[in-house]
Amino acid sequence: MQVKNVKCAAIGLGGRGSSMLAEFVSIPGIEVVAVCDKYEDRAKNGVKIVEEKAGNTPDMYLNYKELLERKDISAVICCTTWITHSRIAVDSMRAGKDVAIEVGGAASVEECWQLVRASEETGKFCMMLENCCYDRNELALFNMCRQGVFGEIVHMQGGYQHDLRDEILCGKEARHGRLVNFINRNGELYPTHQLGPISKILGINRGNRILSLVSMSSKARGLHQGLLTYMPDHELIDTVFEQGDIVTTMLKCAHGETIMLIHDCSTPRPYSRNYRIQGTKGIYMEDNQSIYIDEVSSVHEWEDFAPYREEYEHPLWKQYAKDGIHAGGHGGMDYLVLCAFAEALQTGKKPPIDVYDTVTWMSITCLSEQSVALGSTPVAVPDFTNGMWIDREPFERGKYCLEEVCHEFFD
Ligand SMILES: NC(=O)c1ccc[n+]([C@@H]2O[C@H](COP(=O)([O-])OP(=O)(O)OC[C@H]3O[C@@H](n4cnc5c(N)ncnc54)[C@H](O)[C@@H]3O)[C@@H](O)[C@H]2O)c1
Repeated sequence: MQVKNVKCAAIGLGGRGSSMLAEFVSIPGIEVVAVCDKYEDRAKNGVKIVEEKAGNTPDMYLNYKELLERKDISAVICCTTWITHSRIAVDSMRAGKDVAIEVGGAASVEECWQLVRASEETGKFCMMLENCCYDRNELALFNMCRQGVFGEIVHMQGGYQHDLRDEILCGKEARHGRLVNFINRNGELYPTHQLGPISKILGINRGNRILSLVSMSSKARGLHQGLLTYMPDHELIDTVFEQGDIVTTMLKCAHGETIMLIHDCSTPRPYSRNYRIQGTKGIYMEDNQSIYIDEVSSVHEWEDFAPYREEYEHPLWKQYAKDGIHAGGHGGMDYLVLCAFAEALQTGKKPPIDVYDTVTWMSITCLSEQSVALGSTPVAVPDFTNGMWIDREPFERGKYCLEEVCHEFFD
C-alpha cells in the first residue's frame, strides 16, 4: 500500500531525541525536514542523523518558535525536558501541527489543561510516546487481560525502579534535565512508564477514571551516598536533594481498582518496572517473571511467565517478529510507538494515546508532589475529559490500538 508522505520536525536532541529521531526517519513516508535543539552541537548532530539515516538535509533551528512558523511541517516530535514538553506541544498544536511528546510528568495541573484546550480548540492531537505500552510483555499481558485470564482486575502495580545515580549526579556536565528535578522536587516524578499500560487495561478515560491519590516519600539518602562512594570530590557533595529515594503513590479508580506506583531512581538496584496485575483468577509479577492462575497453576506455586507470553503473544508482536524486529531502542517498543504515531499522521485516525491519556498520566507527578507536601493527604485527580469518560466516541480500531486486540488487522 502506498503510504502518505508527512513532513515532520524534531525538537529536543539530547540522548533520547537523537535515538528517537534515528528511528522516526526510518518509517516509510516520514520525512524530517527540520530539527531543533537550544544547543547548537546537538542540533547539528540531529542534521547529521537525518542525513545518514534518510539522505536529506533538514534545516536546523535553535529556537523552536521559528521552526513552528514553517507552514510545510505538519507534525512534531518533542523530546525535550519534562518542564518544557507541554509549552512546546501547546505551541505546536496552536501552530497547526500534530505533536508527540516524550514521557515525563507535569509540573502543574494548569499545564495539563492547556494541552487539553489546545488539542480541543485546534483539532490537532497530542500523543505521549509511552513506549512501554508497546513492550512485548506488556502487550501479551494486555491480551491476557482482555481474554479474562486474570479474571476481574482488582489491583495493579507499576514503577520506575532504575538506578540513575550516575545520570542524575552528572547532570550538569552532561547538560541533562533530570538533576534539577531531584534537587528541587519531591514526588512521583516519572509515573507514565507503567501507568500507561495499566490505564489501558483498566479503561481509564473510557468507562473508568482515576479519582484520587495519596503519595508518600522516603528520606533522601541515595544520591548523597552515591557521591560519597563514587565521586567524593564532586561539586554536589553538600547539595540537599529534596526528592525522596522511594516515592510510593496509591491511586483509586472509579470502579474500585487500586494502583500502586513506585519511583526509585537513586538507590542501587537492577532495573524493574515492578509490574503486577492482580485479578480474581490470577496474578502476574514482573520481578522473577512469575505468574499464578487459579485452577491452572499447582496450588500456591509460581509458574514461569515465558510459556504464557508465547501462548498469548499480541498479534502486533507476532507480525513484528515475523517481519524482523527493527534493531532499535528498548527491544523494539520505541519503533512501535513511533509507528503508532506515524500511522495516525498518515491516515488521519485518532492516535491510540490521545491528549486525555497524556495529561491524565502526566498529572500524577504534580498531584503526588502536592500530596507529599501536605503530609500524604488524599488529592483529587481531575477529570480531563470533562465527563466524557462515561460516554466517549468509539475508539479507532487498528494494529496499534490499545483498547482492544484488533485481530482483523493482522494476516
Ligand atoms: N521513553 C523512554 O524510554 C525514554 C528514555 C529516555 C528518556 N526519555 C525522555 O525523553 C526526554 C528527553 O530525555 P533526554 O535523556 O534526552 O534528556 P536531555 O535533558 O539530555 O535532553 C533534552 C534536550 O532538550 C533540549 N531542549 C530543552 N528545552 C528546549 C527548547 N526550549 N528548545 C529546544 N530544545 C530544548 C535540551 O537542550 C536537550 O538537548 C525526557 O522527557 C525523558 O524522560 C524517555
